[in-house]
Amino acid sequence: MKRVGIIGVGQYIPKKVLANADLEKMVDTSDEWITTRTGIKTRHIAAKNEATSDLAIKAARHALEDAKLKPADLDLIIVATITPDMSFPSVACFLQNALSAGKAACLDISAACAGFVYAITIAQQFIARGTYKNALVIGAEVLSSITDWKDRNTCILFGDGAGAVVLSEVKSGGILSTYLGSDGSKADLLMLPAGGSRNPASHDTIDKRLHYIKMQGNELFKLAVTLMTQTAQVALKKANLECKDIDLVIPHQANMRIIMAMAKKLGLPQDKIYLNIEKYGNMSSASTATALCQAVKEGRIKKGDIILLDAFGAGLVWGACVIKW
Ligand code: ACO
Repeated sequence: MKRVGIIGVGQYIPKKVLANADLEKMVDTSDEWITTRTGIKTRHIAAKNEATSDLAIKAARHALEDAKLKPADLDLIIVATITPDMSFPSVACFLQNALSAGKAACLDISAACAGFVYAITIAQQFIARGTYKNALVIGAEVLSSITDWKDRNTCILFGDGAGAVVLSEVKSGGILSTYLGSDGSKADLLMLPAGGSRNPASHDTIDKRLHYIKMQGNELFKLAVTLMTQTAQVALKKANLECKDIDLVIPHQANMRIIMAMAKKLGLPQDKIYLNIEKYGNMSSASTATALCQAVKEGRIKKGDIILLDAFGAGLVWGACVIKW
């Protein structure tokens, strides 16, 4: 088996900023409530003409440049998203065309907020076995397109963005372990009920606002803390490491209180947790992807560091990945 690592990172965040003060004018909420309950101050919203692939392509170009690879070098493109441009074709195919990455096999995966960790794990298998040499993995979302801007329970949480990495064979370090899990029995806690084959779009589904995110936040909160903690522990054990060995955790950014509760359970100090939730909110698969990219660009991750990606989301799904940088 070949050793697989991340050789390039990139991101794109749309320009428009939506601050808590703006949301105060849209729903019955306050900056104080949002800040203390979630840790979010602002989130970025895609322009009307920006679809998920438009964000993904910009992140992808930065990652390829960082990896010093050309699109033609790519053998595989995986986009993790719950907000594809359309049901089909995949975002990855739109991306392949825009990049002129003609050699690459393309697919999207649906694993919500854990999508980026799932996609890295899938790409790693192909490279480790020698099937493919270079893979582009992207977490990209335009969650604003499925957010109910009249529902104060959810609309304060989400933002848009894209993060990308290039995976390839590396001589040292790389991915030390991965762990993925799911529990479909709790699917009803977070879903987009209409628009698929269960409830195709109709006047009725639109009247009932079923094309927007429905979430039971309180129940998810408790599960997120427990499962993100357990997921980190399993991935570390698989890598024969302990919490004290971690230099930086890149957690999914759903809620500052979830992240801090997880850190406390793991006995990790705050300076070992990377946060971007305050500026960007929850961008689902793009949260861990952009946080990783930002941590690298800010010099928070250095060669030889042990980092842990840890995510949880709708499905339920969860996943973690231990990487030696
Ligand atoms: N402004 C003011 N009040 C609000 C708002 C708001 N924006 N939203 C809810 N409230 C009210 C509620 O109506 C409720 O009032 P009541 O007590 O009179 O009924 C009160 O605040 C408390 O509501 P809770 O839902 O219990 O608030 P909680 O502290 O749980 O925070 C939150 C809600 C932020 C959604 C939290 O539950 C959370 O972060 N959950 C986890 C989300 C998550 O992890 N999702 C999975 C990943 S996302 C993905 O996969 C796409």
